[in-house]
Amino acid sequence: MTEREKPIGVFDSGVGGLTVVREIMRNIPKERIVYFGDTARVPYGGKSKETILRYSRQIVRFLQSKEVKAIVIACNTASAFALEELSQEIDIPIIGVVKPGAKVACASTKNNRVGVIGTQGTISSGLYTEFIREINPQIQVIGKACPLFCPLVEENWRKDDPITVAVTERYLKELKEQDIDTLILGCTHYPLIRSTIAQVMGEGVTLVNPAYETACQLRTLLQDEHLANNRALEEGEEPYRFFVSDSAESFSAFADSILPCDIENAQKIPIEEY
Ligand code: DGL
Repeated sequence: MTEREKPIGVFDSGVGGLTVVREIMRNIPKERIVYFGDTARVPYGGKSKETILRYSRQIVRFLQSKEVKAIVIACNTASAFALEELSQEIDIPIIGVVKPGAKVACASTKNNRVGVIGTQGTISSGLYTEFIREINPQIQVIGKACPLFCPLVEENWRKDDPITVAVTERYLKELKEQDIDTLILGCTHYPLIRSTIAQVMGEGVTLVNPAYETACQLRTLLQDEHLANNRALEEGEEPYRFFVSDSAESFSAFADSILPCDIENAQKIPIEEY
């Protein structure tokens, strides 16, 4: 296998990172993917930096055992807590979702008032704010942790569900009063309730999906590094492989509901051994 033909490694705390996989499939369809979802240790959102760094290091070692040519941290919380260290420890390209999201938010805002929603960890890390202020110090960033969104999405209480609408209204009330014109969906699960968030925030607010922006940044990175795969899929080739740290069945069911292809091959692996 040539360097270009090697897969991209993508990881997340669980199923949410499949929103990033979906964007990679749509926007760079010739790339093969190895995905790892840490379903046994999810959620990462309320855990410490130290713990997330330890988990992320194990996952990176696992992905490297699968000979990936680059790694995408699909999880916002792990991107916020582990990307900096990991990028100094490995010799293949690694990107997270925070920087791409921050960059697009800066380009989108007209009134220099940007909101960010995410897990407790992502918001308290302050990393979205840091990246945005590096690009434009004039921008005010207002963060809000919305921890109930993830279980609602995983319960499949999505579009138009009255409970999800009520929770969204309650969480976003504060942000609506802040006159923001751009809102970053800073958590893997939030694009799956995008229409509810859009409805609550109203027409004047542009929603930024870091999953999409990350796939675009990955495409550019692969081209720049001469790592883009130009070989079309061969008959019978399996371009996407999925690994989890807990039950593969519930993962596959969720994956089938959001990915354009069926997941029959999710495999459970003992991540603590890496
Ligand atoms: N994947 C996580 C993130 O994007 C959300 C779920 C969790 O808390 O682990 O931050």
